[in-house]
Amino acid sequence: MQAKRWAQKPPAAGLSGRPKPALLLIDDDTDLRQTTKLILEKDFQVLEAGDGAAGLEILRKTPADVALCDIRMPGSSGLQVLEQIKNSWPPLEVIMLTAVGDARTAVQALKKGAFDFLVKPAEPEQLLNTCRQALAKKNLLLKNLALEAELNRPPCRKMLGRSKPMLKLFASLKKIARTTAAVLITGETGTGKELVARAIHGLSPRAGKAFLAVNCGGIPGELLETELFGHEKGSFTSADNRKYGKFELAQGGTIFLDEIGNMPLMMQAKMLRVLQENEIERVGGLKPMPIDVRFISATNEDLNACIQRKIFRADLYHRIRVIPVALPPLRERKGDLPLLAGHFLSRYNSLYHGSFQSFSPAVLKTLENYSWPGNVRELEHLIQRIVTLEDGPVVRPEHLPEEFRAKNK
Ligand SMILES: Nc1ncnc2c1ncn2[C@@H]1O[C@H](COP(=O)(O)OP(=O)(O)OP(=O)(O)O)[C@@H](O)[C@H]1O
Ligand SMILES: [Mg+2]
Repeated sequence: MQAKRWAQKPPAAGLSGRPKPALLLIDDDTDLRQTTKLILEKDFQVLEAGDGAAGLEILRKTPADVALCDIRMPGSSGLQVLEQIKNSWPPLEVIMLTAVGDARTAVQALKKGAFDFLVKPAEPEQLLNTCRQALAKKNLLLKNLALEAELNRPPCRKMLGRSKPMLKLFASLKKIARTTAAVLITGETGTGKELVARAIHGLSPRAGKAFLAVNCGGIPGELLETELFGHEKGSFTSADNRKYGKFELAQGGTIFLDEIGNMPLMMQAKMLRVLQENEIERVGGLKPMPIDVRFISATNEDLNACIQRKIFRADLYHRIRVIPVALPPLRERKGDLPLLAGHFLSRYNSLYHGSFQSFSPAVLKTLENYSWPGNVRELEHLIQRIVTLEDGPVVRPEHLPEEFRAKNK
């Protein structure tokens, strides 16, 4: 919207204290540069260059918003300059200046990405307007790129939800991301615990650093220890290379301790030390090493029950659960179903070149009546299966697996 307004009415540049947008004018004709500059100075800060090389040199030092470039010049031709600009500064819009009867080159320029072309000598009003439009397009493009970068932040791009509990969760994730406090994510299988962990990391100032996930339940104690702490060369017979542990590799980043409820007791004691001291001792290592890692843990176990059964340490529980995040099961946020189902349908449809476009109302109703013990993952797998095995464009009740329909009766 703002870009459109700019196109019609230039900003009160200079007066408002805002610097005027910069326009680079490349033309070997000094007189023409003079007159063009006089016209454009109303809106732009005009930078001048007598040939392509000088123009590119200016761009390397001073970012410009719009470029006006003559086609026929000594040295590099306008088309070559255009190509170089589009390669090195893609959002910079370039308007070509052509002589009468040079329509073919002008068309070539458009194909190479020029914003427009003007036949010399251009009418002042037309010259100014074309430059304003080019500026508006560049601003819009930059705004879109910024929005896209925002949306493409990996963790959030994929995490969908519009139900009340999810909207509340999204809002709290942003706040949680600002701190380094240990987070414990709880929730049934497939509710998106790992996605939340990644989202917290992605939204945090640590986003540029590593996010390392460790499955604490899937590997035996000693292996888990090496995985986390690393080992020095020769500390076991089979260890002939120094192995870096995940704590060390995640320096400055985030460690995701998945299935922490299944961590062997011997490891829980070591973990507790790490959380208390913020340092690690490598297996066979000499001295402790300070670490700067954010801890996010997840479990689908009831840790309080594990504490009762003496298979989880209460002191560790309190350390890892400075900020608890509980993910609701899908059956408690059915408002998210159409959104998630639609998302998975379009995702797998384009991945597998399927023909599906939508769900029949009857299918949506069946999905809503189902209890989703496997939560979002179960929904995802169901849709993946349908897109793989069935033909669209509409997902109909007969596409649902038999046992799925039976469970709904
Ligand atoms: N809100 C969501 N939006 C989009 N996709 C989601 C959402 N929640 C979960 N998913 C998808 O569902 C699948 C399961 O999510 P995830 O692995 O994070 O669950 P989990 O809680 O860690 O499960 P488990 O306890 O079994 O490890 C993933 O493919 C994930 O991308
Ligand atoms: Mg998981």
